[in-house]
Amino acid sequence: MTKEIVLSGIRATARLHFGNFLGAVRNFVDFQSQGYQGLYFIADLHTLTTLKDPEELRRNLIEITKDYLAAGLDPNKSIIYAQSSVPEISELSLLLSMLQPMNELEGIATLKDLVRNSKEKVNLGMLTYPVLMAADILGPQATLVPVGEDQEPNVELARELARRFNNRFGQTFVVPEMMKDMVMVPGLDGRKMSKSDSDNTIDINYTRDEISKRYHARGVTDTQRLRVSDPGDPYNRCRSVYPVHEIVTPFEREKRTIANLCLGGNIGCRTCKGILVDSIAAVLEPFQAARADLASKDAMVREILHEGGIRARAIIRPTLEAVQDKMGVVVY
Ligand code: ADP
Ligand code: TRP
Repeated sequence: MTKEIVLSGIRATARLHFGNFLGAVRNFVDFQSQGYQGLYFIADLHTLTTLKDPEELRRNLIEITKDYLAAGLDPNKSIIYAQSSVPEISELSLLLSMLQPMNELEGIATLKDLVRNSKEKVNLGMLTYPVLMAADILGPQATLVPVGEDQEPNVELARELARRFNNRFGQTFVVPEMMKDMVMVPGLDGRKMSKSDSDNTIDINYTRDEISKRYHARGVTDTQRLRVSDPGDPYNRCRSVYPVHEIVTPFEREKRTIANLCLGGNIGCRTCKGILVDSIAAVLEPFQAARADLASKDAMVREILHEGGIRARAIIRPTLEAVQDKMGVVVY
């Protein structure tokens, strides 16, 4: 059995929301507790495709690192680093770009998303985004990449680049697997919770009161249900509340207590939202307490990123050297 190396990253565009927390960071912590070697980084270079304020980028990098730590990532067990602290990644990206057909990049769905959401012209960084992501993944020879399903085209491109390189130059890269069965957390409007979409997120620093206000004011439930006594359809028509119960309310998936109450017209949407708020708060409150302890610890966070960068470089350098050697690049 090959030893799993789990790797994932998040762009430093803003503070994280509950979708990122459940769909990404909590999985990282699960992998860590199962004892896998994990590399978790902040993709600050990828952020430059859209974020233009240097101060905000610097701040977000520290804040997201704190989110990682407060969620339970432990620098003694996992390698936590900033993408930009590892120049080998950028160099590998340049070398890999020589094997990447341009037309495949132009057709990729994640680029279309970026273009749609960006107010500015498409920059070259957006086009080459998946190649840099391939270097993130292939550099440390990651075997497993836990990301949301929206990232599938990018991971597929990394797999293809690995195969293409291996075919041409001989076995060099592990072909990584994308983790399947990721959760998709719906936002208040029922669409995927996303900071780049409409105002549909629950931020991970919201108090119980703020979460409650947001769900009561904006959470879209079964719109065909007019009275509490009408039978509801939690599985198909409730868009923003029941799907989240399935993820966070203890034993709901096994016992279907709330679903059955709703199907029988025995619980109203208001009450149901109240229970959800409690479940979300139960997940977020321990995180928020740990996060508050880190508020004044920027120096420690910088030190963790520094150490993580050194460890990541040591892991990626042999891959880069092998690639340079096979492609005929000599460093004098
Ligand atoms: P956003 O869509 O808000 O811009 P990102 O694209 O930066 O978020 O996502 C960072 C990570 O969080 C990725 O692994 C992504 O798949 C995951 N993620 C984002 N939104 C959700 C969601 N609503 N449900 C589950 N996972 C999510
Ligand atoms: N593109 C990913 C996202 O938007 C972030 C990312 C960059 C990433 N490089 C990666 C994720 C490598 C996994 C592995 O969420």
